[in-house]
Amino acid sequence: MVEKNKTTVARPVKHEAAPSSFRRLKGMKDVLPGDYPVWDFVLRTAFRLADFHGFERVDTPVLENLSLYERSSGRTSDIVTKEMYSFVDKSGDRIALRPEATPGIVRSYIEHGWLNLPQPVKTLWYGPLFRHDKPQLGRYRQHHQINFDIFGEASPLADVQVIFLAHQIVSDLGIKAQVDINSLGCSDCRPNYINKLLAYYREKKHRDQLCQDCRKRLLKNPLRVLDCKEPACINVAREAPQMVDYLCDPCKQHFVKILEFLDGLSVPYNLNSQLVRGLDYYTRTVFELVVPSQTAERPLSLGGGGRYDQLVEYLGGRPTPACGFALGVERLILQLDENHVKVATSQDQPDIFLAQLGDGARLKSLLLFEELRQVGLTIRQSFTKDSLKAQLALASQVGAKYTLIIGQKELLDGTILLRDMESGSQEVLDFKKVKTIMAKRLGKN
Ligand code: HAM
Repeated sequence: MVEKNKTTVARPVKHEAAPSSFRRLKGMKDVLPGDYPVWDFVLRTAFRLADFHGFERVDTPVLENLSLYERSSGRTSDIVTKEMYSFVDKSGDRIALRPEATPGIVRSYIEHGWLNLPQPVKTLWYGPLFRHDKPQLGRYRQHHQINFDIFGEASPLADVQVIFLAHQIVSDLGIKAQVDINSLGCSDCRPNYINKLLAYYREKKHRDQLCQDCRKRLLKNPLRVLDCKEPACINVAREAPQMVDYLCDPCKQHFVKILEFLDGLSVPYNLNSQLVRGLDYYTRTVFELVVPSQTAERPLSLGGGGRYDQLVEYLGGRPTPACGFALGVERLILQLDENHVKVATSQDQPDIFLAQLGDGARLKSLLLFEELRQVGLTIRQSFTKDSLKAQLALASQVGAKYTLIIGQKELLDGTILLRDMESGSQEVLDFKKVKTIMAKRLGKN
């Protein structure tokens, strides 16, 4: 029989011994407390400019159907063939952790009928992406991108706007980057170019120098041979036919217009005929923002993008021209670190440190903490510490301009002690007036 009202006490569960330490997965990064100011600086700079240019924030899920990427990024792309984190879920669906944002954004554009909104639709997207790549400096298995895309605009001025914006963001971050740019033509002119390219690479003296991967690429995706990083392949690519020489008239005019505007806007660019980008959906313009790296082997690509006029239709939507780019957040931060950029934060020099002795003073101090926050002052405190000496030491350590002290005496007579941390001078203030006095002294009224 079960005894009534008898409380059962849960027995402690015997756990298996914990492994001595867990470590993060290979190629993954933790963002630590001291890292955040610079993340914040990068995101704020990018979001502010995106807003100025009329981009609106969207988000998409981390998981999508695997076939979305196979169809858009490309069945033969490195992302799909080598780098995707994919699995079959409990419903038997083939799922992928997103390796890039563009396919998901296009899926969302079609699914929610953004076509019926006034065009162009300009989207801003930020989030983590997953690529099972070989980790190295600036290349992680989870990284973050800020994506900017313009849908429903075929004019070369849309390409100019995204390149200009990309350049403005990195410049505002204090980074000097160069724009590498190329045109990949369209479905009218590219096939002719590919034939010329294949003819060049099939010449024995050229083919014999190619790496094994490039020999396969020649069969499946010949353009990719141009951006192989093997020294021998780079050498052969130098003399290869260039797409810009085979552009049809509309593609040529489109490209020339972009370059004219970039000249007019003083955006430094470099015509790079080997730039093809690793994703299959690009048409016409492709570009990357690159910087020489002091620590990585090759120039670092901080971001890249281009035009993808056929992707919306290819994924089931109505024909919609589009272009965009993405910046790699970790790469931007790496560059800021290499340039030793120090980002100031509100924590750097707090206006006031609050110190107190005893529980009564602590309560009053907590209430004042909230009042001072409301007038916009930056406050540091250590409500858990009992020793006044330790609190004053902390106030100097964090560089507070003033310390406000409530001890037993101040608690009884309704005052508060104000200490100027630089001069060491002290004055007694009426507790009721402290908020107004401090706001005035620190220019917050
Ligand atoms: P993506 O060139 O593959 O383009 O990536 C954009 C940027 O993300 C790169 O330039 C680089 O800064 C950063 N990135 C890429 N992979 C990694 C990695 N493994 N670790 C750290 N950073 C990385 C795209 O993904 C296109 N969807 C961009 C786009 C948007 N095109 C049109 N709209």
